[in-house]
Formats: sequence, C-alpha cells, structure tokens
Amino acid sequence: MRTILALAIGATAFQTSTRRTPARVSLNAAPQEGDLSGKVAFVAGVADSTGYGWAIAKSLAEAGCKIIVGTWPPVLAIFKKSLEGGKMDADRELSGGRTMDIDKIYPLDAVFDTPEDVPEETKTNKRYAGLDGYTISEVAKQIEADYGKIDFMIHSLANGPEVTKPLLETSRRGYLGANSASAYSFVSLVQHCAPIMNEGGAALSLTYIASEDVIPGYGGGMSSAKAALESDTRTLAWEAGRKYGIRVNTISAGPLKSRAASAISERGKKSFIDLAIDYSKANSPLGKDLYADDVGSSAYFLLSPLARAVTGVTLYVDNGLHAMGMAVDSNALTADGEGLPVPAKA
Ligand SMILES: NC(=O)c1ccc[n+]([C@@H]2O[C@H](COP(=O)([O-])OP(=O)(O)OC[C@H]3O[C@@H](n4cnc5c(N)ncnc54)[C@H](O)[C@@H]3O)[C@@H](O)[C@H]2O)c1
Repeated sequence: MRTILALAIGATAFQTSTRRTPARVSLNAAPQEGDLSGKVAFVAGVADSTGYGWAIAKSLAEAGCKIIVGTWPPVLAIFKKSLEGGKMDADRELSGGRTMDIDKIYPLDAVFDTPEDVPEETKTNKRYAGLDGYTISEVAKQIEADYGKIDFMIHSLANGPEVTKPLLETSRRGYLGANSASAYSFVSLVQHCAPIMNEGGAALSLTYIASEDVIPGYGGGMSSAKAALESDTRTLAWEAGRKYGIRVNTISAGPLKSRAASAISERGKKSFIDLAIDYSKANSPLGKDLYADDVGSSAYFLLSPLARAVTGVTLYVDNGLHAMGMAVDSNALTADGEGLPVPAKA
C-alpha cells in the first residue's frame, strides 16, 4: 500500500512538474515532424527553376508537401510553356524517382491588393491580356476555394524599378515602387493568407544583408525595402502569432545568380551578382559556393514543425558571410603580400 501510494505521489509530482516546465524533455524530434504530406504550400514568386522560390518549393515537395505557386503575369506564359514543354523536367526530380508537381499556378501581381488598385494601363497591357484575379486578395480567395486551408506561405519575390541607381539618385517613385513590390507585398500576403492558414502554419520571406550593411550597387531603395521586410517580420510574428497561431520568419540569403539578381546591374566584365558571389566565396567563413538548395533546406526547417518555437527571426543562410567585419581579400590588406591571417585547411 505504501509503495502504491509512493508511486501515486511520484506520478502526481511528475505531472505537476511537467505542467510547470513547458520545455519538453525529449531531445529527438519525432520523425513525423519533418513529414509534410497532407500540407499545402503557396510559393509566391516562382517563374523559373533558377531562383530561391523554386528551391524552397522543391525542398517542401521532397517532404511530401503539395505545391501551388503565384507567378507574375509578365512571365507567366513563358514559365507555363517551359514547364509544359518539359524544359524543367530535370529540375523537378526528387529522390526515389519522384517529381515535383506544381498543383496549380496562380497569376499574381503582388503590387496590387484588390481589383480597384489595378490601373487601366495594366489592365490593357498585352502581358496581362486574358488574365483576371491576379491581385493578392483575389488570389487568396481562389486558393481558399481550391484548397480550403493552406499551411505555408512563402514570399520569394522582389522588384526595384531603379535598382541600378544609387539611393542618392533614386526617385520617390522608384523608392516607393521597390518598397511596394518587395516589402508591403509580404505584409499584404500575410494579411490575406493568414486567415486561410491552419494553426501551426508558417510564413517565410527572403531578405538580403543590404538591409543592415552597405552593399554598393544594391540601389533604388531595395536596401530600404529589405530593412522594412525584416522589421515587419518581427511585428507580423507577434500579430499573426497571437491572432492566427502562425509563425513568421525571413531568411537572409547569400548571393545567387537568379534571374532577378542578374538584372541588378552590369559593371564592366562582371555583373553585380557575379562580383557578389566571388566576394562571398573569397571572404565567408565556409569559403564555398552557395546553392539555392542550401536556402531550400533551411526554409524547409523554418517552415516545418521542427521549428515550431521559432518565429520573428532573420536567419542567415550565407555560408557565414554576415559574421565578417573585414574582407580578407581586400587590396588594402594584401598590398604587402602578407594579408590577414587566414586559417589554413587542416
Ligand atoms: N538572388 C540573390 O542573390 C538573393 C539574395 C538574397 C535575397 N534574395 C531574395 O530572394 C527572393 C527571390 O529572388 P531570386 O533572387 O530567387 O530571383 P527570382 O527571379 O527567382 O525571383 C523573383 C521573382 O519575383 C517575381 N516578381 C517580381 N515582381 C513581382 C510582382 N509585382 N508580383 C509578383 N511577382 C513578382 C519575378 O517574376 C520572379 O519570379 C527575392 O526576395 C530576393 O530579393 C535573393
């Protein structure tokens, strides 16, 4: 009797202490937490297979997630043609002989929230001909009608009409345009998608270190847009966390030669993005190439329940470049032939 009582007291004490200590004791995540079958992800900003949006879609599809995408009308026809024509078949390959299927492609212009916002010049533009319902609120309504609730929303888009101009020469229109397409678009997507997301879901965007450090050549107010995006990530994490039970994070990605990045600027023999990639490899702690898939894997972690307690963060996925305060390959440092001490590979 005494033993039974002792066990009973022990059990009660244990229950009380678990209740008081919300941190779970288990060190290993349950394998099913990484399994995303039955989940739906909407990736806004996919128009080819070279960018971060595609890589994120692929890493989610690898885990069994259903993929739907939002594509900018001016590039929609060419994207569909490449997909349907089989040009992207190799890029759609997953493990085990599976392929990533894009369940549905929605035309999406993320600078418009409602049909009333669309100006006549856009409606009559031949690249928008025959398209309808491409504003953010309309796309969210269509997704709800097609899928009910979704689990993940990924914002992988940016646009700065004056990105090639230094901030000192950027017009108000260019600055606001960059912020509208690249930062407010995320606020609006969270506003309209959070109500159709399952609790426990997550939103993610992509940012760039130019938000906090000076990156010459990343102009037109794009650096300001990324700063806004990161700040909004924290505020939205709070608001959407409490209101909808979803998480909001952003990945500060290293340089990748995507279509958007290739448009930043040409400088002599090398474009901005080629220089940024070379600089990153020469100066980052890991000193290696960065692949779109590297960002895809981190995005998968941040979106999946493995990161269920992570929200409001800017996660650097850049081979560590953000941590450096000096460029070890700088001419000023290597002029005497010695340079700074660089740890030799073991
Ligand atoms: N490539 C890099 O070096 C790098 C580094 C850090 C962050 N990022 C960020 O990653 C995200 C994805 O860019 P990416 O470099 O992979 O290039 P990408 O070309 O694959 O993606 C950009 C997408 O934005 C779309 N887009 C532009 N304006 C739009 C609009 N108004 N409405 C809807 N879609 C629109 C384009 O069609 C394109 O599909 C962007 O936020 C970018 O700033 C890129």
